[in-house]
Amino acid sequence: MRLTVIGTGYLGATHAACMAELGHEVVGVDVDAGKIAALRAGRAPFHEPGLSALLARHTASGRLRFTTAYEEAGAFGQVHFVCVGTPQRRDCDGADLSCVESAFAGIARHARKGALLVGKSTVPVGTAARLAEEHGAEIAWNPEFLREGFAVEDTLRPDRLVFGVRTGRAERLLRQVYGPVLAAGTPLVVTDFATAELAKTAANSFLATKISFINAMAEVCEAAGGDVRKLSEVLGCDGRIGRAYLRAGVGFGGGCLPKDIRAFAHRSAELGVDLGFLHAVDAINMRRRDRTVALARELCGGSVLGARVAVLGAAFKPDSDDVRDSPALNVAARLGLDGADVTVYDPEALDNARKAFPLLGYALSVPEALRGAELVLLLTEWPRFREIDPRWAAGLVSRPRIVDGRGVLDPDRWTAAGWRFCALGMS
Ligand code: UDX
Repeated sequence: MRLTVIGTGYLGATHAACMAELGHEVVGVDVDAGKIAALRAGRAPFHEPGLSALLARHTASGRLRFTTAYEEAGAFGQVHFVCVGTPQRRDCDGADLSCVESAFAGIARHARKGALLVGKSTVPVGTAARLAEEHGAEIAWNPEFLREGFAVEDTLRPDRLVFGVRTGRAERLLRQVYGPVLAAGTPLVVTDFATAELAKTAANSFLATKISFINAMAEVCEAAGGDVRKLSEVLGCDGRIGRAYLRAGVGFGGGCLPKDIRAFAHRSAELGVDLGFLHAVDAINMRRRDRTVALARELCGGSVLGARVAVLGAAFKPDSDDVRDSPALNVAARLGLDGADVTVYDPEALDNARKAFPLLGYALSVPEALRGAELVLLLTEWPRFREIDPRWAAGLVSRPRIVDGRGVLDPDRWTAAGWRFCALGMS
């Protein structure tokens, strides 16, 4: 089939490359000429395992092209996927739909008769119905559930597919697009627009709630003298609860969960439904950052003023160079404002971190970050940080004190190597 993908961020670039991998001819569209130039050269404009290889393969084969022109995309595509961002509005918790609106307007103007316009962006419930009315085009909603760091895998082998459609024709076209994925046995739910839109926001709200639940238990463990890691292990053994998304720490960040739960609560309130618990989920999450800053202060004797602090991690999560709403950088910046001499190291996110927080110090390796540190904070759970040898690290720092903000280090090992070891969720 001939597909277009409008918006080439994390979602769109991955979707375009994966659709080419499935055998379709794909044109990716973006208003950002710099991004398009990188993609044309077969390069992902961000770190995402496996994506550059797919881009290189399919730009070379000619199955995948990129353009900044809607005219070209409109003339080409039978199905157009809209994959643009929906950031938080500046004036409230709601979602900013300006990119979605201009993408739909842009492609609707140039699309061939009978083309299907498919929204993939995360939007407030009711958006698809409104866009269908405004543009008079055939529309479907097909939310994605991809995680950064696993975007290619999650697109080619998703847990489920959701088609929000109003006609049998739209469903048939989408079944054709995802033919190989469906043939592999992927569960498909065909539903209305509203349910398809809600599928995404509800899933993200549930995940955020799970993380904040265990982080609230971490607060209780800190107050009562428990160990949240053991507690999480016990809870996770119950098949009804499950182990995933039950790791306590400095909390969730990134371009999705924080803004999606706020937008969902905001939209629900407009509809007269009080999802107040999502405000609590958000508040618990932000309190973990406060607690990490407070722990750093306590360990430095009440103030971090002038203290050399090494921060391991800048990305909002491992296997990503994304620093949007990163808990690690938020904590680092706050310690910097308190007068600490902060040095941040991250395996992939240093360039983005520097752009977002130019006043912090940065190191190009773990030893460079640790050298002379009076306090170490582990704030992104990159696997390589788990493998740091505490005896080796003790030889580099000036004072062996560490806060494990992600619950990934072995307390006994670090204590035995002479470290003062603190973790969130431990007394
Ligand atoms: C999320 C959803 O998982 C995905 O389905 C949706 O499409 C977009 O939002 P992503 O933002 O890539 O994906 O990140 P995810 O892997 O879900 O992690 C989110 C944050 O939660 C990270 O900061 C991570 O460190 C944190 N986290 C995750 C925890 O603190 N504890 C956990 O147990 C799991």
